[in-house]
Amino acid sequence: MARKGFIFDLDGVIVDTAKYHYFAWKKLAEGIGISFTEADNEHLKGVSRIRSLELILEWGNKEISSEEFNALLTAKNDDYLSFVNKMTKDEVLPDVPRVLDYLSDMKQPMALGSASKNARTILDRVNLLNRFDCVVDGTNVSKAKPDPEVFLIAAEGLHLPPESCIVFEDSLAGIEAANIANMISIGIGDANILKEAQFVFSDFTKISNEFLHQLISRI
Ligand code: BG6
Ligand code: MG
Repeated sequence: MARKGFIFDLDGVIVDTAKYHYFAWKKLAEGIGISFTEADNEHLKGVSRIRSLELILEWGNKEISSEEFNALLTAKNDDYLSFVNKMTKDEVLPDVPRVLDYLSDMKQPMALGSASKNARTILDRVNLLNRFDCVVDGTNVSKAKPDPEVFLIAAEGLHLPPESCIVFEDSLAGIEAANIANMISIGIGDANILKEAQFVFSDFTKISNEFLHQLISRI
């Protein structure tokens, strides 16, 4: 059996933490007089914590001191973690465990490739930390998606060339990063949004074991 590297984004792919980011950003934004909608939140998917706050301030046309900036980042993360700390393994998105089990049975290397600095905490909460051969997160990268750095480090960690890797992503920036890395990009979400992905599925229930088998067997 061929060996492929399967790289998973975390937020919006393995767990639906986007809603917790939304609650925390909304509270922060409204606290400083900036309105914040779910549509705004879409633009923050895959975007680093620092860049997200910069964008919110840009949208609200607001300038603040670096001390205030850092204090807001800390408050947002504390708020976000109060949701994360209540998470259980029931919050793993449908059929993710089936896909992980199938790939493990097929002896396929698996990695996590996430922008989040909270990735290990979240994986631990939902009991998935030991399922990945390599975890690359926001603490390991210096360049944010769409830069391919996170996925290239993951491929290296799996000892596979980028061309042998397959990325599951829910954000536009992540799909772009996978394409730039010369990996197969699989969008999880809306095909009208994730237009640049090579394949798009609304969620993992639509990804059959046969499809995974074809990916493994591809040259
Ligand atoms: C990405 C999320 O996975 O991680 C973004 O899609 C988030 O919304 C980014 O801002 C950074 O996450 P964290 O947990 O380090 O604040
Ligand atoms: Mg994501």
